[in-house]
Amino acid sequence: MPIRIAAFCGSLRKDSANRKLLNTCIELKPADMIVEVVEIRDLPLFDQDIMDAGTNAVVKTFRDKVAAAEGFLFVTPEYNYSVPGALKNAIDWASRPPNPPMFAKAAAILGASPGPVGTARMQYHLRQVGVFLDLRFVNKPEVMVGMAPSKFDAAGRFTDETGRGLVKDLMANLGALVVKLKA
Ligand SMILES: Cc1cc2nc3c(=O)[nH]c(=O)nc-3n(C[C@H](O)[C@H](O)[C@H](O)COP(=O)(O)O)c2cc1C
Repeated sequence: MPIRIAAFCGSLRKDSANRKLLNTCIELKPADMIVEVVEIRDLPLFDQDIMDAGTNAVVKTFRDKVAAAEGFLFVTPEYNYSVPGALKNAIDWASRPPNPPMFAKAAAILGASPGPVGTARMQYHLRQVGVFLDLRFVNKPEVMVGMAPSKFDAAGRFTDETGRGLVKDLMANLGALVVKLKA
């Protein structure tokens, strides 16, 4: 059986470096892994009343896709030293009962930014959020793509060979962690 991963991109813009990095993850994933990109753009802002009504189709589809996944991949920029609001909102929707679909599963984080630290501060905030959700994060390698504009070519390909190796290792380790948690 293939390993099913739900992937989230924390940037909504068309020319997003993080979206390109997510495409690289798909390119370099293990053969026995399926990565479904779950879009977060159309989710409403979290509202417990909408949750309780249980009738919002966008929320239902989103939570069903998250529930079907065995692990998660977060590819996201850093906004004001933390997790972009759109991604945090999506996590909030996925975290609530009944049957919280984002709970106690494997997860991996990576990110790209134009600055030198490559989303490091955001990554540790996201790990903290994951504590409440009992997510089991892949710890190594840490993939923090700094100076991002210089690392993608005109076709959107991630050209940093060391970085590509780290992405490949991260995806392999995510797959291995899913298998370990299921055993
Ligand atoms: C609201 C906002 C806050 C930002 N805060 C940070 C930050 O704290 N650290 C950082 O390195 N870059 C920051 N940036 C710059 C982003 O890293 C940059 O826009 C990046 O390219 C976004 O990723 P994307 O190319 O995937 O859209 C911020 C950008 C925005 C729009």
